[in-house]
Amino acid sequence: MATLFIGQNRIFLNETESTNSYAINLLKNVNLVEGTVIYAEKQSAGKGQRGNVWHAHPSMNLTLSLVIKPGFLSIGKSFYLSKITALAIYDLLTELLDNSQYDIKIKWPNDMLVNSKKVAGILIENGFKEQNIIYSIVGIGLNVNQTFFQYLPLATSLNILTAKNFSLDVVMNRLFVYFEKWYLCLREQKYKEINATYLKNVYGLNTICSFEQDGKTFKALVKDINENGFLVLEDEEKQIKQFDIKGIKWLF
Ligand code: BTN
Repeated sequence: MATLFIGQNRIFLNETESTNSYAINLLKNVNLVEGTVIYAEKQSAGKGQRGNVWHAHPSMNLTLSLVIKPGFLSIGKSFYLSKITALAIYDLLTELLDNSQYDIKIKWPNDMLVNSKKVAGILIENGFKEQNIIYSIVGIGLNVNQTFFQYLPLATSLNILTAKNFSLDVVMNRLFVYFEKWYLCLREQKYKEINATYLKNVYGLNTICSFEQDGKTFKALVKDINENGFLVLEDEEKQIKQFDIKGIKWLF
């Protein structure tokens, strides 16, 4: 396999509540080697962002968690883990959807879109000690062979996009290659390269989009996603405002 450590140690589960929760619990008792992957055929309570449930038909999609130990990263830079994960999935999608008819975008904070529909989501849960991250569980849900998403009209999958079936093993191995590439980039502190590539592929940059905050919707110009992972918007009065993940919801 073409990685040094990502995916070299794999734990396959037929079923668990959530691969992220499984990894966090396991880490309480076992010193998992960096790069360990927890993969489940079925999650009975897959976790999404903002307390949502992540729905994925068993054995048709990738639902996995990567255990990494980015002790080199300070808490203030933790959003870089989200950035590199999105970039790894971006590269993977670019390879698998080898055709210009696909518009692949990273939607802040952690959705992966193809042709404006969500194909993957990221949920990162960190363990901290003082000012550093001692472990990070990078949860990835990628819709692969599922062809029907009940109640989720804005979801898509690789199969829906291409009318082809994909080998989950092959897709997973390619994901690990790209994740390792970007993780090593982060370890080498190539922040400029990460930021530039991220911004190049981010959804909605320099356009007016709709948002929701405290139950109210509003429109604003997307200016940036800054060093700390804050979304920078310019409102209708030309005021620049920054929002963290909890403070705002980006509407489609
Ligand atoms: C989102 O809401 O977009 C994030 C979805 C993250 C889902 C993945 S599936 C594998 C891992 N385990 C979980 O419980 N959630 C993440």
